[in-house]
Amino acid sequence: MELTFFGHSTLMLKTGSTRILVDPFITDNPAAEGVVAMTDLDPDFILVTHAHGDHFGDTVDIALATGAQVVANFEITSYLTRAAGYDNVLSMNSGGSVLFSFGTLTMTYARHSSSFEDGSYGGNPNGFVLQAEGRTVYIAGDTAPFNEMSWLGEEFNLDLAVLPIGDRYTMGIKGSVRALKMLKPKIVVPVHYNSFPELKTDVDEWVTAVKGTDCRPQVMDPGETITF
Ligand code: NI
Ligand code: MN
Repeated sequence: MELTFFGHSTLMLKTGSTRILVDPFITDNPAAEGVVAMTDLDPDFILVTHAHGDHFGDTVDIALATGAQVVANFEITSYLTRAAGYDNVLSMNSGGSVLFSFGTLTMTYARHSSSFEDGSYGGNPNGFVLQAEGRTVYIAGDTAPFNEMSWLGEEFNLDLAVLPIGDRYTMGIKGSVRALKMLKPKIVVPVHYNSFPELKTDVDEWVTAVKGTDCRPQVMDPGETITF
């Protein structure tokens, strides 16, 4: 499986010939500037963890341009249909799994909030577990550590976890180490840091902190792709 990081929390997963775009925030994302243009992206699916502008982002424009199926909670998929007339959507909620042609997606709980920029209700925030090609990836979304991460660690043999580390709005360095002790992934990729001044984080300090766990830290530059 391939994972490309576009800065902030925007990711593209490629499994087989399927392209899965996660939290497509390109417009006004300082970390994506000069790295990717919206027209470069041709996803088959778009996963949205929650309704905040730095995650829902360009979902409407990319969905309309590509026809990708948008997977998100019911409140977000309803908003897309109501506000943009877009109905190639699939709604899920925390704890639910759906078998797709490319693999299985499980929607997870996230400890955060979720509302659209116009103030309308975005439902509960979420994360996703993707199982495909014999690999399992956890994308936490914006969240604090939460105790049930230990269930995810028991239930899924996680090859890779994508965790926010920027503090203030999500877990920071200490919180991510707490989360990793429960999740026990082989590899961890940090996101949601250094993209905005208030998310300024010493990533070397984070790498050092993670080295105290059994997990391998994998820092990615915007535009970088890894295969795992
Ligand atoms: Ni958020
Ligand atoms: Mn965010």
